[in-house]
Amino acid sequence: MKKVIKFFYLILICSFFFSHSVFGEEKTKLLTTDWSFKGFFGKFDRGSLQRGYQVYTEVCASCHSMKYLSYRNLSETGGPEFSEEQAKAIASNFEVTDGPNSDGEMFTRPAKLSDKFADPYSNIEEAKLSNGGAYPPDMSVLVKARSGGADYIYSVLLGYEDPPDNMILDDGVYYNKYMYGNKIKMPKQLYEDLVTYSDGTPATPEQMAKDVVTFMAWSAEPHLEARHKIGFRAIVYLLIITVLVYFSMKKIWSRVESEI
Ligand code: HEC
Repeated sequence: MKKVIKFFYLILICSFFFSHSVFGEEKTKLLTTDWSFKGFFGKFDRGSLQRGYQVYTEVCASCHSMKYLSYRNLSETGGPEFSEEQAKAIASNFEVTDGPNSDGEMFTRPAKLSDKFADPYSNIEEAKLSNGGAYPPDMSVLVKARSGGADYIYSVLLGYEDPPDNMILDDGVYYNKYMYGNKIKMPKQLYEDLVTYSDGTPATPEQMAKDVVTFMAWSAEPHLEARHKIGFRAIVYLLIITVLVYFSMKKIWSRVESEI
């Protein structure tokens, strides 16, 4: 009977490896970088978050919304941690529609901390029309929505290349090594020194991609740091319990063992 079970396990393990090596999808290996927020003790790098916000707002925000973020989130702990004054100043650069006023009319006013991030388009149709029929997805939770997460988005941003000779691309379609089907309707965005960082960090495409993806990773999971902290405490707690249980077990069974 034991042999049968062993054999069964062996078959199971072999089939697992076999299916992976034969049917496993051949994927292009994603680019990666030293993300500060990965790993058990991972934390967001504040500088990177602030620079990432700058890249988002100066480069991506003309096409991509981030509708789950409010300006006040920019000054909350765990985020880019701009001061409240800075966040207020940032908000006041944007116009939002409010109303109706006492005449029954809608009006625009500078955004406040409580407002959501301004949307570049008034609706999906307008967004598609401006982008050759493709919809620039909302970026608030995109890191969570794509397999490969931060690495995938980092790769797409840096993955523009000349198409292979046998591939003809329509107007407004670009070759990207990491996009599904290798075609993307977003032109290459990141060029050397596209933004000027106030902290003096050199704005290479890799640096800008790293910063904006860090910002997107935070917006997709703003409570990551709290989660890591709770996880750490839970593990310490469980370790202590394990030690206690071990010694109480020793004590409870000590006489039984000595009698055997
Ligand atoms: C000129 C408009 C425009 C700008 C500016 C722009 N994008 Fe896009 N983006 C698009 C469009 C359109 C798509 C959809 C492309 C498609 O589906 O082929 C897209 C798609 C994407 C995707 C999605 C890939 C996927 O898996 O669906 C990511 C990630 C992305 N953009 C990130 C960015 C970032 C980060 C920036 C700023 C550095 C940025 N984009 C700036 C228009 C833009």
